[in-house]
Amino acid sequence: MTAPLVEANGAAIPALGLGTWEATNDACIAAVQWAIEAGYRHIDTAARYGNEEAVGQGIRASGISRDKLFVTTKVWYEDLSESNLMRSAEASLRRLGLDAVDLLLIHWPNASIPLKETIKALGRARRDGLTRHIGVSNFPVALLDEAVARSDEPLVANQCEYHPYLDQSKVLDACRRHGLAFTAYCPLGRGQLLDERTVVEVAERHGRTPAQVVLRWHVQQPGVVAIPKSANRERIAQNIDIFDFALDEDEVARISGLARPDGRMIDPSWAPAWDKAA
Ligand code: A2P
Repeated sequence: MTAPLVEANGAAIPALGLGTWEATNDACIAAVQWAIEAGYRHIDTAARYGNEEAVGQGIRASGISRDKLFVTTKVWYEDLSESNLMRSAEASLRRLGLDAVDLLLIHWPNASIPLKETIKALGRARRDGLTRHIGVSNFPVALLDEAVARSDEPLVANQCEYHPYLDQSKVLDACRRHGLAFTAYCPLGRGQLLDERTVVEVAERHGRTPAQVVLRWHVQQPGVVAIPKSANRERIAQNIDIFDFALDEDEVARISGLARPDGRMIDPSWAPAWDKAA
Protein backbone atom coordinates (compact mmCIF):
# COMPACT_ATOMS: atom_id res chain seq x y z
CA MET A 1 0.00 0.00 0.00
CA THR A 2 1.26 3.52 -0.71
CA ALA A 3 0.42 6.56 1.35
CA PRO A 4 -1.40 9.66 0.04
CA LEU A 5 0.58 12.89 -0.16
CA VAL A 6 0.39 15.82 2.23
CA GLU A 7 0.88 19.11 0.35
CA ALA A 8 2.87 21.69 2.28
CA ASN A 9 4.24 24.95 0.84
CA GLY A 10 5.18 23.31 -2.47
CA ALA A 11 6.29 19.93 -1.06
CA ALA A 12 4.32 16.69 -1.47
CA ILE A 13 5.16 14.50 1.52
CA PRO A 14 3.92 10.89 1.80
CA ALA A 15 1.63 10.83 4.85
CA LEU A 16 3.30 7.72 6.27
CA GLY A 17 7.06 7.22 6.42
CA LEU A 18 9.58 4.96 8.11
CA GLY A 19 11.26 6.32 11.25
CA THR A 20 14.80 4.99 11.69
CA TRP A 21 15.94 6.35 15.06
CA GLU A 22 17.87 3.62 16.92
CA ALA A 23 18.01 1.36 13.84
CA THR A 24 21.57 0.72 12.75
CA ASN A 25 23.67 -1.45 10.45
CA ASP A 26 22.05 -4.55 8.94
CA ALA A 27 18.79 -4.09 10.85
CA CYS A 28 18.44 -0.61 9.37
CA ILE A 29 19.33 -1.74 5.83
CA ALA A 30 16.70 -4.49 6.06
CA ALA A 31 14.04 -2.20 7.56
CA VAL A 32 14.46 0.34 4.76
CA GLN A 33 14.32 -2.37 2.11
CA TRP A 34 11.23 -4.01 3.63
CA ALA A 35 9.55 -0.64 3.96
CA ILE A 36 10.08 0.22 0.29
CA GLU A 37 8.87 -3.26 -0.72
CA ALA A 38 5.74 -2.70 1.39
CA GLY A 39 5.03 0.58 -0.43
CA TYR A 40 6.73 3.21 1.75
CA ARG A 41 7.98 6.17 -0.26
CA HIS A 42 9.20 8.27 2.68
CA ILE A 43 12.24 7.47 4.83
CA ASP A 44 13.33 9.61 7.78
CA THR A 45 16.88 9.72 9.15
CA ALA A 46 19.28 12.22 10.77
CA ALA A 47 23.00 12.86 10.93
CA ARG A 48 22.75 12.11 14.66
CA TYR A 49 21.20 8.66 14.18
CA GLY A 50 24.48 7.28 12.84
CA ASN A 51 22.58 5.25 10.24
CA GLU A 52 22.65 7.33 7.06
CA GLU A 53 25.00 4.89 5.35
CA ALA A 54 22.67 2.01 6.21
CA VAL A 55 19.64 4.00 4.99
CA GLY A 56 21.46 4.66 1.71
CA GLN A 57 22.32 0.98 1.35
CA GLY A 58 18.73 -0.04 2.01
CA ILE A 59 17.49 2.40 -0.63
CA ARG A 60 19.94 1.09 -3.23
CA ALA A 61 19.20 -2.55 -2.35
CA SER A 62 15.48 -1.93 -2.90
CA GLY A 63 16.15 -0.95 -6.52
CA ILE A 64 13.60 1.89 -6.35
CA SER A 65 14.25 4.86 -8.60
CA ARG A 66 15.38 7.91 -6.65
CA ASP A 67 12.59 10.18 -7.86
CA LYS A 68 9.94 7.91 -6.31
CA LEU A 69 11.31 8.38 -2.79
CA PHE A 70 11.07 11.20 -0.23
CA VAL A 71 14.17 11.18 2.00
CA THR A 72 14.53 13.42 5.04
CA THR A 73 17.66 14.04 7.09
CA LYS A 74 18.50 16.48 9.90
CA VAL A 75 21.35 18.67 11.07
CA TRP A 76 22.30 18.22 14.73
CA TYR A 77 21.85 21.24 16.99
CA GLU A 78 25.60 21.75 17.50
CA ASP A 79 26.09 22.24 13.74
CA LEU A 80 23.78 25.19 13.16
CA SER A 81 26.32 27.86 12.22
CA GLU A 82 26.34 28.56 8.48
CA SER A 83 29.60 26.70 7.70
CA ASN A 84 28.83 23.74 9.98
CA LEU A 85 25.31 23.33 8.58
CA MET A 86 26.59 23.19 5.01
CA ARG A 87 29.32 20.73 6.01
CA SER A 88 26.82 18.58 7.92
CA ALA A 89 24.42 18.47 4.96
CA GLU A 90 27.22 17.59 2.54
CA ALA A 91 28.45 14.80 4.84
CA SER A 92 24.89 13.44 5.14
CA LEU A 93 24.60 13.29 1.34
CA ARG A 94 27.94 11.47 1.07
CA ARG A 95 26.86 8.90 3.68
CA LEU A 96 23.43 8.45 2.09
CA GLY A 97 24.97 8.21 -1.39
CA LEU A 98 22.45 10.78 -2.70
CA ASP A 99 22.91 13.97 -4.73
CA ALA A 100 20.23 15.70 -2.67
CA VAL A 101 17.69 14.90 0.03
CA ASP A 102 14.03 15.86 -0.29
CA LEU A 103 13.90 17.54 3.09
CA LEU A 104 16.61 18.93 5.36
CA LEU A 105 15.57 19.79 8.92
CA ILE A 106 17.14 21.56 11.89
CA HIS A 107 17.03 18.65 14.36
CA TRP A 108 16.62 20.74 17.54
CA PRO A 109 16.72 24.50 18.05
CA ASN A 110 19.84 25.98 19.68
CA ALA A 111 19.58 29.33 21.46
CA SER A 112 23.33 29.85 21.46
CA ILE A 113 23.47 30.08 17.65
CA PRO A 114 21.34 32.88 16.15
CA LEU A 115 18.28 31.44 14.40
CA LYS A 116 18.76 34.10 11.72
CA GLU A 117 22.12 32.54 10.76
CA THR A 118 20.78 28.98 10.77
CA ILE A 119 17.73 29.82 8.67
CA LYS A 120 19.90 31.67 6.18
CA ALA A 121 22.19 28.62 5.93
CA LEU A 122 19.22 26.29 5.49
CA GLY A 123 18.00 28.48 2.62
CA ARG A 124 21.45 28.37 1.07
CA ALA A 125 21.50 24.55 1.32
CA ARG A 126 18.27 24.56 -0.68
CA ARG A 127 19.46 27.07 -3.28
CA ASP A 128 22.72 25.14 -3.68
CA GLY A 129 20.73 22.00 -4.47
CA LEU A 130 21.62 19.93 -1.39
CA THR A 131 17.93 19.56 -0.57
CA ARG A 132 14.64 20.12 -2.37
CA HIS A 133 12.87 21.43 0.72
CA ILE A 134 13.74 22.73 4.18
CA GLY A 135 12.10 22.63 7.58
CA VAL A 136 12.56 22.34 11.32
CA SER A 137 12.10 19.80 14.09
CA ASN A 138 11.18 20.18 17.75
CA PHE A 139 10.25 23.83 17.25
CA PRO A 140 7.65 25.13 19.71
CA VAL A 141 5.18 27.78 18.52
CA ALA A 142 7.17 30.96 19.27
CA LEU A 143 10.31 29.62 17.60
CA LEU A 144 8.36 28.31 14.63
CA ASP A 145 6.80 31.75 14.12
CA GLU A 146 10.27 33.28 14.26
CA ALA A 147 11.75 30.73 11.85
CA VAL A 148 8.97 31.29 9.31
CA ALA A 149 9.34 35.08 9.59
CA ARG A 150 13.10 34.88 9.05
CA SER A 151 13.12 32.45 6.13
CA ASP A 152 13.30 33.62 2.50
CA GLU A 153 12.59 30.06 1.36
CA PRO A 154 9.39 28.23 2.31
CA LEU A 155 9.60 25.93 5.34
CA VAL A 156 7.56 22.79 4.68
CA ALA A 157 7.52 20.78 7.93
CA ASN A 158 7.97 20.86 11.69
CA GLN A 159 8.73 17.38 13.01
CA CYS A 160 7.77 16.86 16.66
CA GLU A 161 6.74 14.12 19.06
CA TYR A 162 3.01 13.46 18.63
CA HIS A 163 0.69 10.69 19.72
CA PRO A 164 -2.59 10.41 21.64
CA TYR A 165 -0.90 10.81 25.04
CA LEU A 166 0.52 14.19 23.99
CA ASP A 167 -1.72 17.11 23.07
CA GLN A 168 0.08 19.07 20.34
CA SER A 169 -2.86 21.21 19.24
CA LYS A 170 -0.97 24.51 19.64
CA VAL A 171 1.98 23.41 17.50
CA LEU A 172 -0.38 21.76 15.01
CA ASP A 173 -2.41 24.99 14.70
CA ALA A 174 0.80 26.96 14.14
CA CYS A 175 1.90 24.52 11.41
CA ARG A 176 -1.46 24.87 9.67
CA ARG A 177 -1.37 28.67 9.99
CA HIS A 178 1.99 28.68 8.17
CA GLY A 179 1.10 25.93 5.66
CA LEU A 180 3.62 23.43 7.08
CA ALA A 181 3.13 19.72 7.50
CA PHE A 182 3.29 18.46 11.09
CA THR A 183 5.42 15.31 11.03
CA ALA A 184 4.76 13.11 14.06
CA TYR A 185 7.68 11.18 15.49
CA CYS A 186 7.16 8.50 18.17
CA PRO A 187 3.58 8.22 16.84
CA LEU A 188 3.03 5.00 18.78
CA GLY A 189 4.25 6.59 22.01
CA ARG A 190 7.26 4.30 21.73
CA GLY A 191 4.84 1.38 21.68
CA GLN A 192 3.22 2.28 25.00
CA LEU A 193 -0.14 3.20 23.49
CA LEU A 194 -0.68 -0.24 22.08
CA ASP A 195 -2.03 -1.77 25.30
CA GLU A 196 -4.34 1.16 26.01
CA ARG A 197 -7.89 -0.15 26.52
CA THR A 198 -9.59 2.48 24.33
CA VAL A 199 -7.17 1.81 21.48
CA VAL A 200 -7.57 -1.96 21.79
CA GLU A 201 -11.39 -1.63 21.78
CA VAL A 202 -11.42 0.55 18.67
CA ALA A 203 -8.96 -1.81 16.97
CA GLU A 204 -11.19 -4.82 17.71
CA ARG A 205 -14.21 -3.00 16.30
CA HIS A 206 -12.38 -2.40 13.00
CA GLY A 207 -10.58 -5.76 12.87
CA ARG A 208 -7.28 -3.85 12.89
CA THR A 209 -4.27 -3.75 15.21
CA PRO A 210 -3.83 -1.08 17.91
CA ALA A 211 -0.85 0.35 15.98
CA GLN A 212 -2.98 0.74 12.85
CA VAL A 213 -5.66 2.57 14.82
CA VAL A 214 -3.17 4.99 16.37
CA LEU A 215 -1.53 5.70 13.00
CA ARG A 216 -4.94 6.13 11.38
CA TRP A 217 -5.75 8.68 14.11
CA HIS A 218 -2.66 10.66 13.00
CA VAL A 219 -3.13 10.60 9.25
CA GLN A 220 -6.83 11.48 9.44
CA GLN A 221 -5.83 14.88 10.80
CA PRO A 222 -5.24 17.40 7.99
CA GLY A 223 -1.57 18.20 7.48
CA VAL A 224 -0.28 15.39 9.71
CA VAL A 225 2.40 12.92 8.58
CA ALA A 226 3.44 9.97 10.78
CA ILE A 227 6.81 8.21 10.82
CA PRO A 228 6.51 5.07 12.98
CA LYS A 229 9.69 3.18 13.67
CA SER A 230 9.85 -0.58 13.33
CA ALA A 231 12.60 -3.06 12.58
CA ASN A 232 10.17 -5.93 12.04
CA ARG A 233 9.06 -6.83 8.51
CA GLU A 234 5.43 -7.63 9.36
CA ARG A 235 4.96 -4.60 11.57
CA ILE A 236 6.54 -2.34 8.94
CA ALA A 237 3.98 -3.60 6.39
CA GLN A 238 1.14 -3.41 8.92
CA ASN A 239 1.90 0.23 9.77
CA ILE A 240 1.29 1.49 6.23
CA ASP A 241 -1.81 -0.65 5.70
CA ILE A 242 -4.10 2.04 7.09
CA PHE A 243 -5.52 3.85 4.08
CA ASP A 244 -8.59 1.67 3.53
CA PHE A 245 -10.51 2.33 6.75
CA ALA A 246 -11.50 5.37 8.81
CA LEU A 247 -12.17 6.21 12.42
CA ASP A 248 -15.45 7.99 13.14
CA GLU A 249 -15.67 11.26 15.06
CA ASP A 250 -16.48 9.54 18.32
CA GLU A 251 -13.51 7.16 18.02
CA VAL A 252 -11.17 10.07 17.21
CA ALA A 253 -12.47 11.97 20.23
CA ARG A 254 -12.05 8.98 22.55
CA ILE A 255 -8.47 8.44 21.38
CA SER A 256 -7.66 12.17 21.64
CA GLY A 257 -9.07 11.99 25.18
CA LEU A 258 -6.06 9.87 26.21
CA ALA A 259 -3.89 13.04 26.30
CA ARG A 260 -2.29 13.64 29.69
CA PRO A 261 0.01 16.32 31.13
CA ASP A 262 2.99 13.95 31.41
CA GLY A 263 2.41 12.48 27.95
CA ARG A 264 5.80 13.36 26.52
CA MET A 265 8.09 10.36 25.98
CA ILE A 266 11.10 12.40 24.85
CA ASP A 267 12.34 14.83 27.51
CA PRO A 268 13.32 18.05 25.70
CA SER A 269 14.70 19.82 28.80
CA TRP A 270 18.32 19.37 27.67
CA ALA A 271 17.64 21.17 24.38
CA PRO A 272 19.26 24.63 24.47
CA ALA A 273 16.21 26.59 23.30
CA TRP A 274 13.44 24.64 24.90
CA ASP A 275 12.72 27.36 27.46
CA LYS A 276 11.34 29.41 24.58
CA ALA A 277 8.72 26.67 24.29
CA ALA A 278 5.83 28.73 25.62
P1 A2P B 1 9.68 -3.02 16.60
O1 A2P B 1 10.80 -2.23 15.97
O2 A2P B 1 10.14 -4.28 17.25
O3 A2P B 1 8.50 -3.22 15.67
P2 A2P B 1 7.46 4.84 17.96
O4 A2P B 1 7.49 4.93 16.47
O5 A2P B 1 6.28 5.51 18.60
O6 A2P B 1 8.78 5.29 18.60
O7 A2P B 1 7.29 3.29 18.37
C1 A2P B 1 8.30 2.38 18.05
C2 A2P B 1 8.14 1.15 18.90
O8 A2P B 1 6.90 0.50 18.59
C3 A2P B 1 9.23 0.15 18.63
O9 A2P B 1 9.54 -0.46 19.85
C4 A2P B 1 8.59 -0.83 17.66
O10 A2P B 1 9.14 -2.13 17.84
C5 A2P B 1 7.14 -0.81 18.10
N1 A2P B 1 6.21 -1.03 16.98
C6 A2P B 1 6.25 -0.46 15.75
N2 A2P B 1 5.20 -0.85 15.00
C7 A2P B 1 4.50 -1.72 15.76
C8 A2P B 1 3.31 -2.46 15.53
N3 A2P B 1 2.65 -2.41 14.38
N4 A2P B 1 2.87 -3.25 16.55
C9 A2P B 1 3.53 -3.32 17.73
N5 A2P B 1 4.65 -2.63 17.99
C10 A2P B 1 5.13 -1.82 17.03
